[in-house]
Amino acid sequence: MAEAPTPARPHVVLSAAQSLDGYLDDASGTRLLLSNEDDFAEVDRLRAEADAILVGAGTVRADDPRLLVRSAELRRERRAAGEPEQPVKVTVTGSGELDPHAQFFTAGDAAKLVYAPPSVAEHLRDVATLVDAGTPPELERILDDLGARGVRRLLVEGGGTVHTQFLSAGLADELRLAVAPVTVGDPRAPRFLGPGAVPRTLRLTGVRKLGDVAVLHYRVAAEPSALDLLRLRQAIALADECPPSSTFRVGAVVTAADGTVLATGHSGEGDPLNHAEEAALAKLPAGDPRLATATIYSSLEPCSARASHPLSCTQLILAAAIPRVVMAWREPSLFVDAEGVEQLMAAGCRVIEIPALAPEVRRANTHLPGVRP
Ligand SMILES: NC(=O)c1ccc[n+]([C@@H]2O[C@H](COP(=O)([O-])OP(=O)(O)OC[C@H]3O[C@@H](n4cnc5c(N)ncnc54)[C@H](OP(=O)(O)O)[C@@H]3O)[C@@H](O)[C@H]2O)c1
Ligand SMILES: [Zn+2]
Repeated sequence: MAEAPTPARPHVVLSAAQSLDGYLDDASGTRLLLSNEDDFAEVDRLRAEADAILVGAGTVRADDPRLLVRSAELRRERRAAGEPEQPVKVTVTGSGELDPHAQFFTAGDAAKLVYAPPSVAEHLRDVATLVDAGTPPELERILDDLGARGVRRLLVEGGGTVHTQFLSAGLADELRLAVAPVTVGDPRAPRFLGPGAVPRTLRLTGVRKLGDVAVLHYRVAAEPSALDLLRLRQAIALADECPPSSTFRVGAVVTAADGTVLATGHSGEGDPLNHAEEAALAKLPAGDPRLATATIYSSLEPCSARASHPLSCTQLILAAAIPRVVMAWREPSLFVDAEGVEQLMAAGCRVIEIPALAPEVRRANTHLPGVRP
């Protein structure tokens, strides 16, 4: 019997509030307020949109947070959508030093998960589900386990150690950062990002003012592997197979989780109006279980609107539940305004752009007006 595919990891949203000088708190025993009511209300909504909320053991010890959705209206919306009233609470500890009377365990009736090395957290067995994710726990394994438990969206609420690990490991998809107009100026205080934070490419996607608090939204640009480059080059080369055409010449490759090629396609294959992604997907049976962990490589951004066929390639990819897209060239607005990347990301699909390979794609498309290699 074929092995069941590993369910996709959750989409990870980091949320933090920091002072102007980058601190999460001051060094006193009481928590420094870095937020206001409007900001709290937005974070409450982020909680309500999540399947699970994770904080590090340091935050459970320092802040004793309840980690509950506060708004009755948002809780009603969750129930109406068939979800549990409260997201699952998740924490990670190496030492197991957590008090079973902490509000993390006692407040509300949400399910609780503690990722800890075996035997260090036996005193929590009655108040939470203990999960071994390695010694010390590894974030990749935690995310795999959460995915297997049906968690599609994870909100990470700190503290600094945990945020630093998620960002450095390239395991965060989005960051919401609230910046309060106060300074802490005390090197003993915890920072949002610790030393050793590996730089990642963050793209600023929104800036808003909530009273005196500035809210910054970032997307973390995912990074390609050597295999991604190889498979994307294969997709780009497939554009040479396209029949002469007045539209985009595109190639696409669908691979399984281990990188093996499941199907390939190019524009105009089968039907002159077919797009490359569509031609490749048409070669795979609907509901093929390998699609749940597959990647689709396309030389061009998947289209988001088209005149020729009822479904856009973006819709076809989402319908096939493919969790990852790798592409070289953002569609220029020659025919329609392209929103493929935005629509895919909004639906929780991971999109990796490799613009370094875009010149090769343009070279195959110089028959189009205004396109230069
Ligand atoms: N302003 C904000 O938005 C905000 C939000 C949250 C927290 N905070 C502040 O942040 C401070 C706490 O930050 P922090 O950096 O000390 O704590 P943290 O990130 O919440 O937790 C760190 C702890 O989590 C455990 N841990 C994390 N990753 C682990 C791994 N991969 N393997 C094993 N254990 C792991 C370890 O626990 P063990 O020590 O048990 O092994 C580690 O000491 C507090 O002052 C809090 O007020 C502020
Ligand atoms: Zn298309």
